[in-house]
Amino acid sequence: MNDPQPPAQGRFLWSIHLDVAPEALALVEACLEPLCDSVSSFIADRGTALRVEGIARDEPDRARLRAALNTAFPAGDAPRPVIDLIPPKNWLAENLFDFPPLSIGRFFIHGSHFDGPPPMGALSLLLDAGTAFGSGTHGSTAGCLTLLGDLARRRRPKSALDMGCGSGILAIAMAKLWRVSVVASDIDGEAARVTAMNAARNAVGHRVAATTAVGYGSPLVRHRAPYDLIVENILARPIRRLSRDLAHHLAPGGACVLSGLLARDAGMVITAHRRQGLRLVRQVTLNGWRSLVFEKPPTADR
Ligand SMILES: C[S@@+](CC[C@H](N)C(=O)[O-])C[C@H]1O[C@@H](n2cnc3c(N)ncnc32)[C@H](O)[C@@H]1O
Repeated sequence: MNDPQPPAQGRFLWSIHLDVAPEALALVEACLEPLCDSVSSFIADRGTALRVEGIARDEPDRARLRAALNTAFPAGDAPRPVIDLIPPKNWLAENLFDFPPLSIGRFFIHGSHFDGPPPMGALSLLLDAGTAFGSGTHGSTAGCLTLLGDLARRRRPKSALDMGCGSGILAIAMAKLWRVSVVASDIDGEAARVTAMNAARNAVGHRVAATTAVGYGSPLVRHRAPYDLIVENILARPIRRLSRDLAHHLAPGGACVLSGLLARDAGMVITAHRRQGLRLVRQVTLNGWRSLVFEKPPTADR
């Protein structure tokens, strides 16, 4: 994989999107991937179609895209791509007041308005105020980032999943920390879209694949399993409901970080995950929000 390039601060990005039938998803993604920094898919506005969206920092080669689609759909029924420029202006304006740079453990989180160097040794995460949750200021996100930084001292995951990705902050953090491929999934299609865009702006679009589904329902999430590391920052009740799916998608010997829990709700989440054979190894509380680390024994079945 390529080394990360400088973040795409305050510049235009290109978007290519197409609506496709679910069975054509993989074909279309394969056409977009060579031309884009990130590719995501989510449920389109109406019907059963899926919208596939690629984000690119450079103008996509239209002739190459057309040729790839025509080869993939030899019967002449290739979906028609729509190509747009996405302007950077709102990111800058919205951020000046409400998002001062923030250091959390190994990470330095800043908006587009910040153009200084990150502190020595820090991994910078470029994120602007927007339509999806996850700027790093919330205690649950900060707890996850702190625990990810800790995990990096003793683990080198080769595959990771960010369940409930919001802005994609944790997916981007994992992609930068370990240079691994990360699947990012959210119940909200807008979050998947924002994650793909933020991953591209952080020069890790090639490592982060964003998708939309309730819990572990996305074919992409299932296809890429098992994961060495799973992060779920959602809320106590959905996290408890997802405990069996999480344990199933986690590789033997893998770890997970769970957050979005008020300290008083941590007990039910701990019990649910112990029932799935996971072992609680660490917890932190920030501003009343508890974040937990569990491990799956290396000898456990999937
Ligand atoms: C607290 S935000 C976390 C965002 C980001 N990961 C962070 O750490 O800042 C929770 C996210 O989980 C998503 N979510 C809620 N229920 C979900 C479910 N059942 N499956 C997948 N995502 C869900 C929400 O749409 C939201 O984006």
